[in-house]
Amino acid sequence: PRARSIMHHLWLMLLPFLGLVSVAPAEKGLEFPRYDGKDRVLDINDRNYRKAMNKYSMLCLLYHEPIPDSKELQKKHQMTEMVLELVAQVLEEKDIGFGMVDAKKDAKVAKKLGLDEVDSVYVFKEDRVIEFDGLLSANTMTEFLLDLLEDPVEVLDNALELKAFNRMDEEIRLVGFFKNQESEHFEAFKEAAEQFQPYIKFFATFEKTVAKQLTLKMNEVDFYEPFMEEPVTIPEKPHSEEELVAFITKHRRPTLRKLRAEDMFETWEDDIEGIHIVAFAEEEDPDGFEFLEILKEVARDNTHLPDLSIVWIDPDDFSLLIPYWEKTFKVDLFRPQIGVVNVTDADSVWMAMDDEEDLPTAQELEDWIEDVLSGKVNTEDDDEEDDDDDDDDDDDDDDDDDEDDDDDDDDDDDDDDDSDEDEDDDDDDDDDDDDE
Ligand SMILES: *[C@@H]1O[C@H](CO)[C@@H](O)[C@H](O)[C@H]1NC(C)=O
Repeated sequence: PRARSIMHHLWLMLLPFLGLVSVAPAEKGLEFPRYDGKDRVLDINDRNYRKAMNKYSMLCLLYHEPIPDSKELQKKHQMTEMVLELVAQVLEEKDIGFGMVDAKKDAKVAKKLGLDEVDSVYVFKEDRVIEFDGLLSANTMTEFLLDLLEDPVEVLDNALELKAFNRMDEEIRLVGFFKNQESEHFEAFKEAAEQFQPYIKFFATFEKTVAKQLTLKMNEVDFYEPFMEEPVTIPEKPHSEEELVAFITKHRRPTLRKLRAEDMFETWEDDIEGIHIVAFAEEEDPDGFEFLEILKEVARDNTHLPDLSIVWIDPDDFSLLIPYWEKTFKVDLFRPQIGVVNVTDADSVWMAMDDEEDLPTAQELEDWIEDVLSGKVNTEDDDEEDDDDDDDDDDDDDDDDDEDDDDDDDDDDDDDDDSDEDEDDDDDDDDDDDDE
């Protein structure tokens, strides 16, 4: 939860919609949306939530901390709301409702709706609740909601579509072969797909030729782990919805996964005994690309290890986080890096890549990973000299944000903007505590 808070604080600082102010061009066709000032986001309360639920095909609610007294923090809150307003404006034609639920004022509604994680967005679609655990930027939110509006299963009709499917190797994918749309087994597949939409992609084909290329028999479903060459066939076809859900839930954590804006917090929370093995590599960069190829090879050779899950971060996808990561992890992100990060305190160790020019071989990388898994490489060995790390163990009873901010401050040695932000957050948290 603490790592999550660090990340959440980050997104509050990042709100990239600020970058949307564009110079008005003379030509038409590239007019970037700017907030028009109209109120579309509802203030959800005990009296209006039912109506809102019934009115829209989807309702998207931000469950937020109580609105603070301080002017600055109110501004921060308004910025978050603006993200939602802009998304609401852009998607105005799509029959999606938007609302804010105050953790204190609307506690009763929150309880009724089952909202429990403050600063999360919940989407209500038919009888499902989908938690959005990603970066709250207008871009990411919009993409997420558009994905949710699509059919949960995409049908592959021909070789061309199959080609596109084969290229999606960064995603967890399932593909099944069914008789037709009316097949009860396809129905079960679709029901399962709905439960993972939009995070896990589901495909189906009704064409014998396509199925043959996928080596699928009738009613068979293959599960593709990201970056692996061969899929796993889910045993004992045909499958009920429950069997599919159980299989996916069990195999969901891949050996190598790419950090994505739409579920970055969820991924980060899915640590393995408090740590992540993190690889930074820019795919567009020749060294980064080569390093990734080595990493994929090692992942394929070691996919049988249940405790191995490497998070690949392409810094290009998270430009706003680069300075923070470089400072926190003390690494140069222009070079490929692989290291171990403790998600409690963001303490980290990084593999030495001795020669600037020389990337590790697959064998060297594998040996290093083995040392991480056996505990020989860890973030704690060098900690004696490092007093910072002990601070936050003093008051374990309350694991909320104050501690993170303290950590940040220690690490950052007085950084201007960040620490201001952090102090504000402390105030915020204190206020909340007093009020309760
Ligand atoms: C992570 O850091 C915390 C706090 O410093 C420490 O208590 C914990 O043992 C560390 N975890 C691992 C796996 O090194």
